[in-house]
Amino acid sequence: MGNISQTEKNGSVVYIISQQESIRSAIKRVLIKTAEENKIAELKDIKSLPSHFNSDTYIITEYDRTHIAALSKITPKRNVKLYAYVNDAGDLNERDIIFLIKHNIDHLIHSGNIEKLNYEKFIDAKIFKKKHYNAFIDRASTLLEDLCHNNDGIVTDTGIKIYGISKHIKSVIEKVNKIAQSESSVLITGESGTGKELIARLIHNKSKRALNPMVSVNCGAFPEGLLESELFGYKKGAFTGAFTDKQGRFDLADKSTLFLDEIGDMGLPVQVKLLRVIQEKEIEPIGSLKTKKIDVRIISATNKNLEKMISENIFREDFYYRINVIPLHIQPLRQRKTDIIILIYYFLKKFGALQDSPVYGISEDAFNVLLNYGWTGNVRELENLMEMLVVLNESGLIAEKDIPEKYFKNNSKYEPAVEIAETKHKSKHDAGSIKENGININIDADKIKNSGIDLKKEMEKIEMDIINKAMNISGGVKEKAAKMLGLNRTTLIEKLKRYEKNKK
Ligand SMILES: Nc1ncnc2c1ncn2[C@@H]1O[C@H](COP(=O)(O)OP(=O)(O)OP(=O)(O)O)[C@@H](O)[C@H]1O
Ligand SMILES: [Mg+2]
Repeated sequence: MGNISQTEKNGSVVYIISQQESIRSAIKRVLIKTAEENKIAELKDIKSLPSHFNSDTYIITEYDRTHIAALSKITPKRNVKLYAYVNDAGDLNERDIIFLIKHNIDHLIHSGNIEKLNYEKFIDAKIFKKKHYNAFIDRASTLLEDLCHNNDGIVTDTGIKIYGISKHIKSVIEKVNKIAQSESSVLITGESGTGKELIARLIHNKSKRALNPMVSVNCGAFPEGLLESELFGYKKGAFTGAFTDKQGRFDLADKSTLFLDEIGDMGLPVQVKLLRVIQEKEIEPIGSLKTKKIDVRIISATNKNLEKMISENIFREDFYYRINVIPLHIQPLRQRKTDIIILIYYFLKKFGALQDSPVYGISEDAFNVLLNYGWTGNVRELENLMEMLVVLNESGLIAEKDIPEKYFKNNSKYEPAVEIAETKHKSKHDAGSIKENGININIDADKIKNSGIDLKKEMEKIEMDIINKAMNISGGVKEKAAKMLGLNRTTLIEKLKRYEKNKK
């Protein structure tokens, strides 16, 4: 957020809005330190604001919820910055702070100062509840990015940005800091798209080998024979087609790190050769009579279960122990929901910045769909979806209707959320389908015979029972529940309303 003193340079105007003269002059006293007096306009109410603003306009209003709500409507699309005036920032409670953030205010003016709103403590991962992040939904990602910084979730000193505030990602980064100081081989495991390569780069960049570039080989990308020559190189004439000498990647990685990606795709013969190279610390290019000493640190990655492959005799156990001195596992994204939140905002910002008219938010419903999805493709899948949503967006706000069908499908094989209490509760139901849950029709025959029943009412009860189950399974996302029931979203909403009324 800009500093008010910048207004002097670009000639913008600062509007102070308050009915009370005393408040206006208190605000003015603070501003006078940074803005020129003739750039400050005092207004009694919002109605007196001009209909058009400069690109850099500052509006300061006293802390009045109605005023602020009305003002925030003009903020996201125009480049207007809002500040709130309070007598004492210490008087603000959690609700006040959430309210301010939701309405695009993250700076306060009080007792002679302009001060950044202290919101971090409310959105700390430990107490990061649904109602809190909902408050950010129409908000740019800057706040969450700040949060990452404050939690050491983003690693910036190496130029690599790892976004996340989950306990898991923090512990991965702590481990990386230790691993980077050592020379031991590391095996990074995790599903596709979880960030294995990113973490490998981070380890390298933090290590003393960072002066030389990390060398990568995707073991899955080469047929057997070719992988060998790619790794160890060859001499001219070593085989048909070897017209010149070729330097192997091992050699290229001398005094640096060799990243062996998709190591599960490496065939047994290459494993044998590699094991020898790692043990002897020397290479012998194909067709060469000389060996060469090399100093390489190895980081490998795989999304395969190597232990299972060992039991099936398609991966060598001795080789496995060589490459897996330090194991580092990265959890799937669906098990670290707080990271989904951060990443949504990060990608919104990243791709939004490339657009002419940036997307400024994502609706609560759309947000919930993404939060409850299984993300088998992990961060890469989320990244690609966000890019598509931002590029195709027209309204500035990503809504539920913009999200492709497949993201609504219930995915029972996934575990429930682990970090957000409320989502955890929801996900218990997520794990089933309507059919599996079964609907109880519990009307005894005697009752029908003796006192009779109101069939219409009973049918309504059954209907509501089904709707409730669908709502639970969908984690409260109406669009998703409606789809499961073959209803229009609006019909479902009508039925829910009627149900609420009948309950009273
Ligand atoms: N925590 C994160 N913060 C920001 N970007 C991330 C994060 N994790 C992953 N990414 C991004 O997601 C994409 C996939 O990451 P990466 O290639 O490291 O995954 P991978 O585990 O190696 O996947 P694969 O198994 O498919 O090779 C990359 O664009 C990467 O920058
Ligand atoms: Mg990879």
